[in-house]
Amino acid sequence: MAKSNFDINKLLSQMTLEEKVGQLIQLNSMFIGETTADITGPKEQLGVSDSMLAKIGSTLNFHSFAEVKALQDGHMEKDRLGIPLLFMMDVIHGYRTIFPIPLALGASFDPELVKDCTRMAAKEASAGGIHVTFTPMVDYVRDARWGRVMETCGEDPLVNSVMGAAQVEAFQGDDISDPENIATCVKHFAAYGGAEAGRDYNTVELSERLLRECYFPAYKACLDAGANMVMPSFNSLNGVPSIANKWLIQDVLKGEWGFDGIIISDYNAIGELLKHGIAQNAKDAALMAFENGCDIDMMSAGYCSSLCQLVEEGKVSEKKIDEAVLKVLELKRELGLFEDPYHGGSTEKEEALCLCPEHRAIALRAAEECAVLLKNNGTLPFSKDIKNIAIIGPFADSNAIKGFWACNGLDKECVSVAEGVKNLLPDAKITVAAGCSAEWNVCDKDGFAEAVEAARNADAVILCLGEPQNYSGEGNSRADLGLPGEQMALAREVLAVNKNAAAVLFNGRPLVLTELDEIAPAILDMFFPGSEGGNAAARLLFGEANPSGKVTMSFPKSVGQCPIYYNHPSTGRPKARPENVHQPYASSYIGCGNKALYPFGHGLSYSDFSYESLELDTDRMSADSEINVRVTVKNNGDRAGKEVVQLYMRDLCASAVRPVQSLIAFKKVDIGAGETVTVDFTITEEMLRFYNFRCEFISEPGDFEVSAGYADNLILTKKFTLE
Ligand code: BGC
Repeated sequence: MAKSNFDINKLLSQMTLEEKVGQLIQLNSMFIGETTADITGPKEQLGVSDSMLAKIGSTLNFHSFAEVKALQDGHMEKDRLGIPLLFMMDVIHGYRTIFPIPLALGASFDPELVKDCTRMAAKEASAGGIHVTFTPMVDYVRDARWGRVMETCGEDPLVNSVMGAAQVEAFQGDDISDPENIATCVKHFAAYGGAEAGRDYNTVELSERLLRECYFPAYKACLDAGANMVMPSFNSLNGVPSIANKWLIQDVLKGEWGFDGIIISDYNAIGELLKHGIAQNAKDAALMAFENGCDIDMMSAGYCSSLCQLVEEGKVSEKKIDEAVLKVLELKRELGLFEDPYHGGSTEKEEALCLCPEHRAIALRAAEECAVLLKNNGTLPFSKDIKNIAIIGPFADSNAIKGFWACNGLDKECVSVAEGVKNLLPDAKITVAAGCSAEWNVCDKDGFAEAVEAARNADAVILCLGEPQNYSGEGNSRADLGLPGEQMALAREVLAVNKNAAAVLFNGRPLVLTELDEIAPAILDMFFPGSEGGNAAARLLFGEANPSGKVTMSFPKSVGQCPIYYNHPSTGRPKARPENVHQPYASSYIGCGNKALYPFGHGLSYSDFSYESLELDTDRMSADSEINVRVTVKNNGDRAGKEVVQLYMRDLCASAVRPVQSLIAFKKVDIGAGETVTVDFTITEEMLRFYNFRCEFISEPGDFEVSAGYADNLILTKKFTLE
């Protein structure tokens, strides 16, 4: 589609102040024409008159193109200048065809797969009339209690950055005027994932060094990839809520990083400045947010009730309003909305694309590649000749496996494990027994006897456990990370009668699986796999697919270890004793080891990989030179597989305490049965930089270690020197 040459400056010159302010207001689609909206109350309370409603610039959350079209048509009739609305939505892991949650996507360690999934989402969402997605969510995380870890790629800045940038590129394509592309909004800036004790919306206190080193890189990577918009986070950061935080928005985002795109508040975040005790009233809050550079107010009383008045009182200049409005109009122009307010969407396209076989195939591949085989004593893969299978547990035949933030995806369109096994093995005898509920407060063992009986009589048992999909996602923090309800009791009884068993898990966060790890012969984590979850699980369990995912967030042994992450700084008293032995006066727990049960980077395969060598072309480098690293990996098994080759670095002595390891590069490779592959990496001086005590991003001469392997299992290590 040709770039639009619509004259937005001319349009601006025709707009009244109220019309301009309207462009800076975003209201829920349910709100338009309704009298109430969740959380924020009646529209009268927001100070939204019908006249202002007719002038708003954008809206969010819809179910179909038909709904979008009705809203757009209705709006354009009412708006004096006929300015089209922007339609925004959270297209986080699919629009209608749902692929695995981002935490699982991270586990694929495959940015190309992420791009394939994202392209599919972009096509479906644009057909459905969406112009902007509130994606990527790249909040760096270390605490599994926080429910929104399901939306992130985990505890490593590099993985978060690579996956975030891949999403921006795939959603936006070369040009967002193309009807198959949509604009992106990176969120939540900043450090929303640092919520104290993992409780959502909780306060965040972090040093500038830590912010810059771990929390900022992924947001920056998304902006470098061209993200159109930024959404500041709900939390206060070092005392000031992000939307009003001058250092964050003005100094870092706009100043240092030069971001001049649209900043949109999170849902009622401007209104929440009152609850934070930062603003006295809605007018104060609006002034604070607007002065700080927030262009669009999502769902608060702030801009609609006060912005015009603030201009009239001379507290806000109309020039500043014009600048913000021009940004919004420019995005509309870039999307081609002045020529086609539906951006190429149509009901026909939407119906043809959503859940089409091609998209289901992508979702299936993604669910297979994102699953992580956490444990296997050789039980998996099961033989396809097994005739009598028991599928047990609350997730045995549950299609509630799409996960939170599944946009327009429906549970009934997801394939359950029982359905997947039936699809794969139509002739097998399959007995399904839920056994118990997955809810934390349901202590009902009535289904145990039937489940145990089914397990006893089966040749193989698939034990499907997990946490309900609404236990993670926004507002869903947990203080306990075990399998909720009676699931562990069920696992004990079932696994006592049949050892040819594997647990299959559904979860939106790392869980504490210490006991399950002891008693289950094999554990396959599907996270929330989306539309094709059950088919993927069946193919993985019976060896039609080979697991290749690696966790990107450490699974703690006990919730008391949280926050736990592989790239932790060195302490002055590291523990030297074996993992399960407490060491007084060392950094150590009584009754629990220090290490994660499944650390970052862990994940098994049916292939048998061995790391043969790690070679450096030189062991000395300078700021202008590089070191070429070659890692050789062999597949000793009789099955082709994929291995994520991970390269870690440790700075042995620096002017600030450095992490015990940092991932500096990774590559997922196919390795045929019996084959050996070499993977090449380059170490540059930039990879060795860190923030010193003055927050300068520097490298320091000295010795480093480079290793291949994963977090607690660095198989090969070599030393080198930066001169
Ligand atoms: C969430 C955002 C989301 C917005 C719009 C908020 O509650 O924090 O991530 O983009 O709602 O749905």
